Amino acid sequence: MKIIKPKQIIVALDFDSIKEASSIVKYLDPEIYRLKIGKQLFACEGPKVLDKFNKQGFDLFLDLKLHDIPNTVYKALKNLLNQDVWMTNIHLLGGEEMIQAAREARENSKSKALLIGVTVLTSLDEFNIKNMGFSVRIPELVKILSITAKKNNIDGVVCSAQEVSEIKKNSGKDFITVTPGIRIEQKNNDQARVASLEEAIKNGSDYIVLGRELTASKDISKMIKKIESYIICE
Ligand code: C5P
Repeated sequence: MKIIKPKQIIVALDFDSIKEASSIVKYLDPEIYRLKIGKQLFACEGPKVLDKFNKQGFDLFLDLKLHDIPNTVYKALKNLLNQDVWMTNIHLLGGEEMIQAAREARENSKSKALLIGVTVLTSLDEFNIKNMGFSVRIPELVKILSITAKKNNIDGVVCSAQEVSEIKKNSGKDFITVTPGIRIEQKNNDQARVASLEEAIKNGSDYIVLGRELTASKDISKMIKKIESYIICE
């Protein structure tokens, strides 16, 4: 069943070096996959990792999930947006002033990068949220945060694939949804709100983040074949 369009899959390069990341990237076609560079790899290699994979023709999602006071987020994002990235993100739990500061940083930069807000991490469940003192359940919290993001001209959200339909209903089909926590063969590990590829697409997810399904796979070529069996080549 071919259900995924080229470039809808974002591979999370959760590695400690460019060398290790390259051992996966060598299997990937930039016409089919995008790449996500997160805290782990960026902390080791810094901006040169972006140059490296940009030169290979990939669109890059710089996933640093900024979460700080508005002034710090503004300045950090302004600096990050000097890099050539396709998408980057903030935590929506940083508050509305922080979200506005992030939007202003993008407006005041030359970058065309998509700016996305993390709603509630897919590693969290209802128990965690209650323990943190929230009195609403996760779907409601995700809804509130998504509406705040949309109101402040953020391009979309990171959420669980389980929450996509409700978000699209409230914020419109053009409001981007990026969904990690996708499981094909791997165990849930530290993820709580997981979904299959089929569920994510059926619910309308725009971008699917695949991490350990690929990086921890015992047979990468086989897993790539399996993933590509879902991809429609136009
Ligand atoms: O598929 P896997 O569980 O390995 O995906 C992990 C990746 O997804 C990590 O790079 C993590 O930072 C990212 N992630 C995310 N937002 C979440 C949960 C995970 O960007 N809510």
